[in-house]
Amino acid sequence: MPTITLQLPDPYPLQQDIMTHPAKRKVICAGRRAGKTTLAALIAVERFLDGDRCLLTSTTQDQADAFWDKAKTWLSPLIQVGLVSKNESRRLLHFPGGGRIRVKTGSNPDVLRGDNADLVVFDECALLDPAAWFAVAAPMLADRDGDAVFISTPQRRNWFYHLYQRAVDDTDDRWQAWHFTTHANPHLSRAAVRELGADMTAATYRQEILAEFLEGDGQVFRKVREAAVLEAREPYEGVFVMGLDWAQVNDYTCVMVLDVGKRELVAMERFKGVDWALQRGRLMALYDRWQPHLIIAEKNSIGSPNIEALQREGLPVRSFTTTARSKPPLIESLVLAFERSDIKILNDEILIGELEAYERSVSTYTGHSRYAAPSGLHDDTVMALALAWYGLHQRSTTLDTVENIFYG
Ligand SMILES: Nc1ncnc2c1ncn2[C@@H]1O[C@H](COP(=O)(O)OP(=O)(O)OP(=O)(O)O)[C@@H](O)[C@H]1O
Ligand SMILES: [Mg+2]
Repeated sequence: MPTITLQLPDPYPLQQDIMTHPAKRKVICAGRRAGKTTLAALIAVERFLDGDRCLLTSTTQDQADAFWDKAKTWLSPLIQVGLVSKNESRRLLHFPGGGRIRVKTGSNPDVLRGDNADLVVFDECALLDPAAWFAVAAPMLADRDGDAVFISTPQRRNWFYHLYQRAVDDTDDRWQAWHFTTHANPHLSRAAVRELGADMTAATYRQEILAEFLEGDGQVFRKVREAAVLEAREPYEGVFVMGLDWAQVNDYTCVMVLDVGKRELVAMERFKGVDWALQRGRLMALYDRWQPHLIIAEKNSIGSPNIEALQREGLPVRSFTTTARSKPPLIESLVLAFERSDIKILNDEILIGELEAYERSVSTYTGHSRYAAPSGLHDDTVMALALAWYGLHQRSTTLDTVENIFYG
C-alpha cells in the first residue's frame, strides 16, 4: 500500500510543549494571533489520527471555519483517497477505524449535548457560555475519561480566568496552565504585531496582546501584585502571628505567618490529603520555627477538636468562628490593608491567584455583602491570611470575637 504523507505545520516549541504534556485539562491563555487555533487544530488532528473522537467548539462561525479549514486541508490526502470521509455541512471528518472530528459553534451550550468525545477543545473559550463546559462537556468527557483543552485570549476575569487559576492552583498535575503573549508566535512579523496593536488602548493592548487578565468589577482585593514582593524566609528574631484555615472536604489546610512589626507575610504552608495528627504535627513544627505569640484558627466542625488538641499541647491558639456576620469585616480589614499598601505578601502564584479571584456578591434580600471564592476555586490562602491579619491586631489577653468588635 502506498504511503500517504500529510503536511501539517510544525508546531513551534511552546505549541509542542503543550501538545506533548500529559495533563488531562490544559488551559492556555494567549494573545491574539498567538497561534491558538493552529494549536487547537494540531492537537485535534493528532488525536484524530490516533483514533480518538474529538469535538471542537468555538464561539463564532468564523472561528469554527478557521479550524475546520485547517483540519480538512491537512487531512485532504486522506480524504482524497477515501480513507477519511468528510461531511461538509455537518462539519464532520470520520476515520472508519474510529477517529472523528466534529466542529460546532458553542454559543448555545445545548447544541453540544448528545455527543460523546475523548477530547473537547474550546477555542476562544472566554467568549463561550461556561455552561458549555460545566453542564455539557464535563459530563460528556466523564464517560470516556476524556481530555479537555481550553484556549483563549482573556476577557477580563470572567470564567476563563477562574479556569486558568484553577489550573495554576492544581498540585496533582491533572490541570496545567500556559500563558503567552502574541509575541511568542515566531511566524508573525514584528510589523504585523505592531499593526495589530496600533489602534488599541493601553488596557486593550494588555488584554489582547499581552494576554493579561484585567481586573473585573466584582473583584475584592486590589493592588495584590504590587504587594506580592517577598520571598519566603528562614526564621529570625521578631514578633509573629499565625492564621490557620482548616481543610474542608477536597480543600487545603493553610497556615500563614505574619511579622507583626513589619506587617509582612514571612511564611506560608498549604497541605492536603494528610491525616489530622500529621497536620497538627506540621503545625507544631511551624510553630517551633517561628514561635508566634498568637495563632488564630478557624473554628468549624473540623477545627474545634484540632484547636483543643493544639491548646492541650500548649500552643497559643484562639478560635475564630466564621459566620455570615463575622466574615465581611474580617475580609474587609484585609482588603483595606492591600488598598493602603499596608501589607506585603509572598510572591506566590497560588496566593496571588486566590486573592485576585476572590469575589463579593451582594444579597438582594438583605443587602449584605457575601465574600467567597468563585465556585470550584479555593480560598484557603485568603482565609488564612485574613485570620493572620486579624491576629495582628489582637492582644492575646484581650482577644474578642470580630462580631463583638464590629456588631457588639
Ligand atoms: N506552528 C505554526 N506554523 C506555521 N504558522 C503558524 C503556526 N502557528 C501559528 N501560525 C500562523 O500564525 C498566524 C496566527 O495563527 P492562529 O490563527 O492559529 O492564531 P490565533 O491565536 O488563533 O489567532 P486569533 O486570535 O486571530 O484567533 C496564522 O497565520 C498561522 O498560520
Ligand atoms: Mg483563533
